[in-house]
Amino acid sequence: MLHRKILLPEDQMPTQWLNLIPYLKKPPAPYLDPMTGQPVSPEQMGVIFPRALLEQEMSTEPWIDIPEPVLDFLSLWRPSPLMRAYNLEKALGTPAKIYYKNESLSPAGSHKPNTAVAQAYYNKMEGVTRMTTETGAGQWGSALALACNHFGLECMIYMVRVSYEQKPYRKSMMHVWGAEVVPSPSPRTQAGRAILEKDPDCPGSLGIAISEAVEDAALREDTKYGLGSVLNHVLLHQTVIGLEAKKQFEMIGGYPDIVIGCVGGGSNFAGTAFPFCVDKSHGRDVRIIAVEPTACPTMTKGQLTYDFGDTAKMTPLIRMHTLGHDFIPPSIHAGGLRYHGVAPLISCAIEEGLIEAQAVGQTAVFEAGIQFARSEGSVPAPEAAHAIRAVIDEALKAKEEGKEKTIFFNYCGHGHFDMASYDRYFAGGLEDYEYPAEKVAESLAHLPKVGG
Ligand SMILES: Cc1ncc(COP(=O)(O)O)c(C=O)c1O
Repeated sequence: MLHRKILLPEDQMPTQWLNLIPYLKKPPAPYLDPMTGQPVSPEQMGVIFPRALLEQEMSTEPWIDIPEPVLDFLSLWRPSPLMRAYNLEKALGTPAKIYYKNESLSPAGSHKPNTAVAQAYYNKMEGVTRMTTETGAGQWGSALALACNHFGLECMIYMVRVSYEQKPYRKSMMHVWGAEVVPSPSPRTQAGRAILEKDPDCPGSLGIAISEAVEDAALREDTKYGLGSVLNHVLLHQTVIGLEAKKQFEMIGGYPDIVIGCVGGGSNFAGTAFPFCVDKSHGRDVRIIAVEPTACPTMTKGQLTYDFGDTAKMTPLIRMHTLGHDFIPPSIHAGGLRYHGVAPLISCAIEEGLIEAQAVGQTAVFEAGIQFARSEGSVPAPEAAHAIRAVIDEALKAKEEGKEKTIFFNYCGHGHFDMASYDRYFAGGLEDYEYPAEKVAESLAHLPKVGG
């Protein structure tokens, strides 16, 4: 019988998160106040984030303890299995061994609850009673709704309009867990109203939804904001994925030659890859590939500079690869990958040569997703299918070269709420958007002048 699942016993779940910062040659650049050009103070950030998360954001400790109540809730689905994709290998006729972490088994269907649970817990501990957030594909919103419900917090979600319309059942799921959901841009906030005045049919973007959720949190005493990606503490919480995977590879005496993940803001990729980046920083030979859509090519075509994290310029300035804060990507179906920037720690890792970036086109992504579903069974989220595209390409390269490579990727979520986009693919209604060079250039012209 084939040994398809490598299962880590529950009592070997990681009890600490791994922080990449102490392993970087150069520490990440500080977040800057756009008015003064000076680093933002913890007091300024404290308006929207609880103290414990800000401490993690700035921490240079290599290991940070995971609180018991967080471990307890995560153990509903963790450790997630490391799967061997024998059927896909056979379908491709490749000598490569393909493994994946199955993060689709969480209650919300993706990796996002790994940080949602931690964030809701720390907010609860500091007396916060309500959290706001944005959501693109709806995965992050579902995750925060789940976590807020568990810890008894109210949850208010600004959902990018295009996804709100394409994915009505994501919204229903958030309602089941007790959250309130509105399409963004919305008339509820100054940021939303300003956009709607200019463009009443605006499809929305993560940048706009972030502006709305931050504004809502900043104006209420009882409310703080939770971000589903990009920030250091979010990436930190996701490292359980890679840490578990390393233990699982140890159980079979293996180690990947190539590690692959898709990147929106960067959290599932970082959570999977950073524990391997630490090994690479100590000289281990491993290729680590971050995959993004050609329609929103932040890492491969963006500039590495200071920019706002949101469209309405409410966040501090963050040094990262960016397409410009007012870049609104075309409405590609991987809603979770439509962000103009990327996690600053990923930008640092690219700069230091720890990871490489690739962009893939939408139709090739759906082809890969369908090939995976027809061999391994599970229907991937379009975001996950970006990683699968790169995995298949590497596995075919290994076949050409006759090499028995070990390829490992993160299956970051299932596509059960994305069937409308699969339907459109089958109906021939999905186009391959070219890199929108003019729109990016226009948006990059509006970069803030500070830093660089
Ligand atoms: C399934 C899935 N994968 C990936 C992403 C992209 O986010 P990140 O890059 O932070 O992992 C999302 C975002 O919503 C998602 O829903």
